[in-house]
Amino acid sequence: VRVISKRLRKLAQRIQGNMGTMNHILDENIKGQKIVKIYAGARHEKSKFKHAVHQIRNATIKSEVATSASTPIIELLIVCVISLIIYLMAQQAKAGELTPGAFLSYTIMMGLLPSPIKKLMRINEHIQRGLAASDGIFAFLDEAAEPMQSSTAGAAKPLQCRGELQFNNVDFAYGAGEAKTTVLSHFNLHIAAGETVALVGASGSGKSSLAALIPRFYEVSSGEILLDGQAITDLDLQALREQIAFVNQDIVLFDDTVERNIAYAVPAEDIDRAAVERAAQLAQANDFILRMDNGYDSNIGESGQRLSGGQKQRLAIARAIYKDAPIIILDEATSALDSHSESKVQQALDSLMQNRTAIIIAHRLSTVKNADRIVVLDNGQIVESGTHAELLAQKGHYFYLNQS
Ligand SMILES: Nc1ncnc2c1ncn2[C@@H]1O[C@H](COP(=O)(O)OP(=O)(O)O)[C@@H](O)[C@H]1O
Ligand SMILES: [Mg+2]
Repeated sequence: VRVISKRLRKLAQRIQGNMGTMNHILDENIKGQKIVKIYAGARHEKSKFKHAVHQIRNATIKSEVATSASTPIIELLIVCVISLIIYLMAQQAKAGELTPGAFLSYTIMMGLLPSPIKKLMRINEHIQRGLAASDGIFAFLDEAAEPMQSSTAGAAKPLQCRGELQFNNVDFAYGAGEAKTTVLSHFNLHIAAGETVALVGASGSGKSSLAALIPRFYEVSSGEILLDGQAITDLDLQALREQIAFVNQDIVLFDDTVERNIAYAVPAEDIDRAAVERAAQLAQANDFILRMDNGYDSNIGESGQRLSGGQKQRLAIARAIYKDAPIIILDEATSALDSHSESKVQQALDSLMQNRTAIIIAHRLSTVKNADRIVVLDNGQIVESGTHAELLAQKGHYFYLNQS
């Protein structure tokens, strides 16, 4: 029994460890779903997850085998003990002391009865707790899957788009019914291929939502968004996202090496180390990466806990640079940087944005000054648009944003 207990304990530890890994992967994927989607990391994440689940299954089967071996052994022991007691009582009965013996055996029976009942109660408790916990999970599982292929037959697969974007009468809201938050209504915006457009405006004005509509993280309620003149809903979802590099407001990093975070979801044999280093250099990340124990092969820890906010942000920027996509969206991508590294990263971004369509969202107006066009949003409406100099001269919203 002791041998089995020891084995059970070891297996339980292994299951716990693997559960931890699995939950951790799930956590990363749920929090970082936008990054997983835009960098087509689904297959990569799936195989990581599958491996963890496989490990758990193996350990669980082994522990079940051990448990089922231990139960009969324990039961056999109990039966032996009971037999012994009965034998002893029989001996006593022979000697003419039957009544106390019968009384004793009754007591023993009674004593044994509560334990299985208790066990049954505990099982019920487990079931109830499980059912309660699964409620939230079912709600999550009921979310409709993204249509990877468009409904239109023969969806075009643009291999390399030019990057012209057009918002036509776009309505967009989060939620429905009572909880509905309308973000955009009858929104129109044209962005020429290769143009750099900066979105500015108070927080809550709809900048992030607008950006999230382009890779179809959310669907418009009505109206349409065109890429190179083609409705994005007519494009293959994966092909569409391949055209876009995205740096999120919330930085998402994975518990993996620096290299694999920059060349995220690229199969190991296809990672171009030189390109990774070039991207890191442009993002001003090279210096701190080389200072780490194993350089580009250093593990950055769970959600990059071994890095500072600015370092994480530079890694996220390096990832976008490595992707080398025709459209680049930067949502507050330099907000965690101090002004010194920001100006350096800004130079890298400026060169990155050349010959690409770029949408930059920034609080700090120093980062948007050089944009071809600045669009000022207020409550989901465009209230001003023009170059930095033009808008300053207008002394409108932008001018006052600049003052504060
Ligand atoms: N996931 C979401 N679910 C519901 N409402 C949201 C969500 N994200 C943003 N909103 C709401 O949409 C509006 C626009 O938000 P957002 O696009 O994040 O603005 P900005 O990026 O300009 O700060 C805000 O009122 C915000 O509360
Ligand atoms: Mg935002």
